[in-house]
Amino acid sequence: MKRPFVHLAGTGRGIPATVFKNSEFASIGIDTTDEWIVERTGIKQRYVARTETATDLAAKAARCAMEKAGVQPGELDLIVLGTASPDRLLPSAAVDLQAALGAGRAAALDVGAACSGFIYGSVVAEGMMATAGYETALVVGVEKLSAITDWTDRSTCVLFGDGAGAAILKRSRQHQKGILSTYVRSDGTLGDLLCRPSGGAKRPFNADVLADRSQFIRMNGREVFKHAVRSMSDACGRALDAAKLTGADIDLMIPHQANVRIIEATAKHANIPMDKVYVNVDRYGNTSAASVPIALDEAIETGRIRDGSTVLLVAFGAGFTWGAMAVRF
Ligand code: ACO
Repeated sequence: MKRPFVHLAGTGRGIPATVFKNSEFASIGIDTTDEWIVERTGIKQRYVARTETATDLAAKAARCAMEKAGVQPGELDLIVLGTASPDRLLPSAAVDLQAALGAGRAAALDVGAACSGFIYGSVVAEGMMATAGYETALVVGVEKLSAITDWTDRSTCVLFGDGAGAAILKRSRQHQKGILSTYVRSDGTLGDLLCRPSGGAKRPFNADVLADRSQFIRMNGREVFKHAVRSMSDACGRALDAAKLTGADIDLMIPHQANVRIIEATAKHANIPMDKVYVNVDRYGNTSAASVPIALDEAIETGRIRDGSTVLLVAFGAGFTWGAMAVRF
């Protein structure tokens, strides 16, 4: 099928008010140091949603993206939302966002692709725009990971943060701009390496679950690290090939912000120098599905992405899921 020429017409972000610095882990009894966290991950602080819900953060990001794109809520044909930490398990987070925005005309659905949620969401939106004839879609990545993180587990609680990022996708008559290529993959045989073992229908909440804390995120960090580098590097190559580009054509790479060492290794494999790679993991930590659209919004706002820039987005997350997308602005 021919690509419908979808461009990113506006982006936005919704960031919680509260900053949680590495030095604050001592105050909640976590045996760690700023030095360890910065050296192993590059993270210096993260935002934690104390009062904001995931829907609040998503709505803030969405309104900001709509304003920049000059789109009213009633013009949205579609809302695709990526998250691993919705406010509630039923109905979807996307319909809660739809209600918050007053986007009564839109079809709304969630995409469960963890940290790859924004790229998967964009692929789903682009496809539905092609087949259903939609003109305008809202793609959101939002996480309130602080609610599903085990704050007694030092190997995970130092990594995650909360936030939301959003983009308006619009059909375009300009063939040189917009989404040039996409590539997504997954491997469910590796699902146990990064998961929330309980709280779903197989092992619903009960006293045992609360006692063993298995409703929270569990991760084999080393294995995740290896697969993240390998899969994101592969995805970059495939998205570049599909767009008939090389690393040298890329003005800015926006990788999922999980760990600065993963980012550096991926950029090296993709032949993209670090001065062309956007990094904000030091300020946000890993915000999963929100990380790519938050970084994208910041990169546009600070002039790192301009009219004509060619940008490579790439992500990896629980599932495992991974993917990349080349976009011209
Ligand atoms: N502070 C101090 N020490 C710690 C901490 C901490 N916060 N966490 C673990 N340690 C200790 C461990 O207990 C271990 O001690 P030991 O040797 O006495 O047993 C030691 O540090 C080394 O632990 P490792 O897990 O081997 O450390 P590693 O260098 O692998 O770093 C990390 C851990 C940062 C989690 C790394 O594996 C990583 O970044 N993995 C990828 C994680 C990730 O990015 N996940 C998300 C990607 S997908 C998604 O975004 C959902």
